[in-house]
Amino acid sequence: MPAPPTARNPGPICSPARKPSCALEANACGHDFHHIHRVRTLALRIAAESGADPFLVELGALLHDVADPKLNATPEAGQRALREYLDGCGLDAGMRARLQEILERVSFGKELDGKGALKSPELQAVQDADRLDAIGALGIARAFAYGGSKGHAMHDPDSPPREGLDQAAYRNGKSTSINHFHEKLFKLKGRLNTPLGKAIAEERHAFMAAFLVRFLAEWDARV
Ligand code: ADP
Ligand code: NI
Repeated sequence: MPAPPTARNPGPICSPARKPSCALEANACGHDFHHIHRVRTLALRIAAESGADPFLVELGALLHDVADPKLNATPEAGQRALREYLDGCGLDAGMRARLQEILERVSFGKELDGKGALKSPELQAVQDADRLDAIGALGIARAFAYGGSKGHAMHDPDSPPREGLDQAAYRNGKSTSINHFHEKLFKLKGRLNTPLGKAIAEERHAFMAAFLVRFLAEWDARV
């Protein structure tokens, strides 16, 4: 039985030998290791200000995409990979339950389906960091990388953004990367939990909005 992980010694969680089996390596949607690293860094920064437990926040950030159905052959395979991973981590039952709550509720899709109950400070920090990684300069890059990987057009003036998307439509429909700004990215600013998350979102949102104005001006040869 390994020693229980602590914030200073996360032990098996971070050891290459215990790398979770998921498709986090070469992923054109920006769901790669670097995304995990950015979410971890930002979530810890938010936790330091909000008072969330940094150990739980760090684990939540590191593991938040392991069970993602998009990155596993089936949703069940994702859940199994996460369960097997957590089984080997030596967390006590209370900590594991708190961690699982974060991992189950972190994604945007869950909230589109209306599951919006009270959130722990740790869930709030991880969720804010994950959302912030989808906006600003990084968000722009990820939207075009995602669109390219799916064969979507960058922009099509004849195809307006879709309204009132449920999770299936959001996930399965075909849309341009520019429409994705309206369908998701510009909405994220209003969905942040923490004061620091909100402040960072304001700035990243403004950058994206300025980018879009410029993109459309160049598209129409106005500049
Ligand atoms: P998450 O799992 O973090 O909620 P998604 O899998 O929905 O993220 O998206 C991964 C990245 O790809 C995000 O940066 C997101 O904004 C972007 N993305 C998702 N769907 C689209 C789309 N239809 N067009 C362009 N970018 C997209
Ligand atoms: Ni993520």
